[in-house]
Amino acid sequence: MIESRIKAAVRDVADFPTPGIIFKDITPILKDAALCTDITAALATQVAALQIDVVAGIESRGFLFGLALANYLGVPFVPVRKAGKLPYKTVRQEYALEYGTATLEVHEDAFSSGQRVLVHDDLLATGGTVLAASALISRLGASVTGYSFIISLDFLNGRQRLSPFSNAVHTLAGWQH
Ligand code: PRP
Ligand code: MG
Repeated sequence: MIESRIKAAVRDVADFPTPGIIFKDITPILKDAALCTDITAALATQVAALQIDVVAGIESRGFLFGLALANYLGVPFVPVRKAGKLPYKTVRQEYALEYGTATLEVHEDAFSSGQRVLVHDDLLATGGTVLAASALISRLGASVTGYSFIISLDFLNGRQRLSPFSNAVHTLAGWQH
């Protein structure tokens, strides 16, 4: 089962990046090529019914499987980046993170009007990151059709915060505490 394989691979690192945070380290997953292939296929299966036009992946860990998922689905990939990285004209959105604040940007011509966008990131914690990405997608006239994560920290209730955009919130492995 994919959930147990993910949970076996993910490594908890205490007090990173700040005291009191238990960091879910997904880098061991990346060393297991068969698991990466199976994760990509499982993500695609979860969103198969959503009729996605484009996958938006969030820098940086959302790039790891976001492009793989887009390729698997046969749709375009759009990188949503941290501030100051994209070279063309951008729109930007500030957001609060579990540990600090940050700004996301996307190219202003990244989406076509009405496109059905799947937001992908490695992990759902408070939801602040994907909410900021969702605001950018909406501002550019596209539609947030669903969310796709490898991991969710369900005790932080991020899923409820996404409902103004979409209730189609998919995750492969959830932690209840
Ligand atoms: C982590 C993680 C998610 C986000 C989840 O990214 O990869 O993007 O935090 O937190 P949230 O649901 O509370 O917003 P981080 O900003 O640490 O950067 P990285 O992906 O570049 O490592
Ligand atoms: Mg991230």
